[in-house]
Amino acid sequence: MNFKTYQEAIENSNIVSKTDINGIITFVNSEFCKISGYTKEELIGSNHNIVRHPDVDESTFKELWDTILSKKVFRTTAKNLAKDGSVLYVNKTIGPMLDDKNDIPEFIAIRYDVTDPIKLTQALKAKEEELTLLNSTLEERVRVQTMELRDLNKNLEQRVKEQVKKITEQERLLSQQARLASMGEMIGNIAHQWRQPLSELGIHLYKLKKFFEQKNRSLFNETYEDCKQVIKKMSHTIDDFRNFFSINKPKEDFIVNEVIEEAFNMLKATLRNEQINLRVTAEEKIQVRGYKGELVQVLINLITNAKDAFKERVGKDNFIDIHIARFDGETLLITIRDNAGGIKEDIIEKIFEPYFTTKQASLGTGLGLYMSKMIVENSMHGSIKAFNAGGGACFEVKVPIKL
Ligand SMILES: Nc1ncnc2c1ncn2[C@@H]1O[C@H](COP(=O)(O)OP(=O)(O)O)[C@@H](O)[C@H]1O
Ligand SMILES: [Mg+2]
Repeated sequence: MNFKTYQEAIENSNIVSKTDINGIITFVNSEFCKISGYTKEELIGSNHNIVRHPDVDESTFKELWDTILSKKVFRTTAKNLAKDGSVLYVNKTIGPMLDDKNDIPEFIAIRYDVTDPIKLTQALKAKEEELTLLNSTLEERVRVQTMELRDLNKNLEQRVKEQVKKITEQERLLSQQARLASMGEMIGNIAHQWRQPLSELGIHLYKLKKFFEQKNRSLFNETYEDCKQVIKKMSHTIDDFRNFFSINKPKEDFIVNEVIEEAFNMLKATLRNEQINLRVTAEEKIQVRGYKGELVQVLINLITNAKDAFKERVGKDNFIDIHIARFDGETLLITIRDNAGGIKEDIIEKIFEPYFTTKQASLGTGLGLYMSKMIVENSMHGSIKAFNAGGGACFEVKVPIKL
């Protein structure tokens, strides 16, 4: 493009308009028409404020007029309104054109379009604000989340506490039931123990009557003493059993072999009655420190289970073998083995669960092995396991010796 004059060059590269002293448009170039959306005809003769944007402050126009009327140049970035209502930004320079007499016949305004960069800046600013907002709400959201988490945590602690309490309570109930159950079994054992002395007493009573009639004072007295012995034995049996059920006994040192012998003595009559041969063997005498009564309870549970297992089986040479040995330097191993047919493989995993029983309701509570496991694990810090061997069940109890 060739420019003939300097003015032409300016007019072709900028947005140019001229107004008279009152602001009435006298000239617009085609760039002005293009950007404002008005035709030349519409613009010429109109007031320049045709492209004024309502957002722009009155004071800006006052400043503009004050400046140019005092024959100075005014520069600004202006917000304008196109015919179609769209917003455009222009950098504009307005100046008076002076004539020979130094009067102002007209003003010229030269602008260039800065809509894109300004809109971009505005968009950037908006994004920035959005980000700042997001940032501040983020903090708030994190705070709320943290609080929620904290609450949850608190609740969780509370819930765990409640659950633990519930479980402890359940365990307490279970052990109470198990206690009652084994007491029931014990009463059965006492009944067996008493069978013989009771019949003895019957015979003695008969004799007493006879010696009384015969007026045989010495034999009467002798029989009377025998009676007292039998009664003493009977009351001793009760003491034996009761001892093992009294709770809150302190830890004590005891010889395992002797305790097993005591348990054996309590069950002897029952076992004899059921024709079961209980044998106790030991490699050595082992002393442990702990709760004697609890160990006896475990043994009674295991022996009673074996005894019950024989009920299901008709066989000769029924035996329960208890073997005491040192598993290693620090562990005592008690093995209780029977030949009553063993535990069915499909239930062997379940026998230590509370209430698991294969017996009739009147015979089994399913608590014996559960309680035994509790005692061995929690109270004695040992372990108990079951497996089948040699035509019967085998239980292994391992307990630290703690010399
Ligand atoms: N020596 C054993 N031989 C065969 N089965 C056994 C033996 N000991 C335990 N069991 C099985 O384990 C189950 C659970 O025993 P336990 O917890 O003592 O409850 P309960 O004796 O009241 O049934 C028994 O019902 C029985 O089926
Ligand atoms: Mg049992």
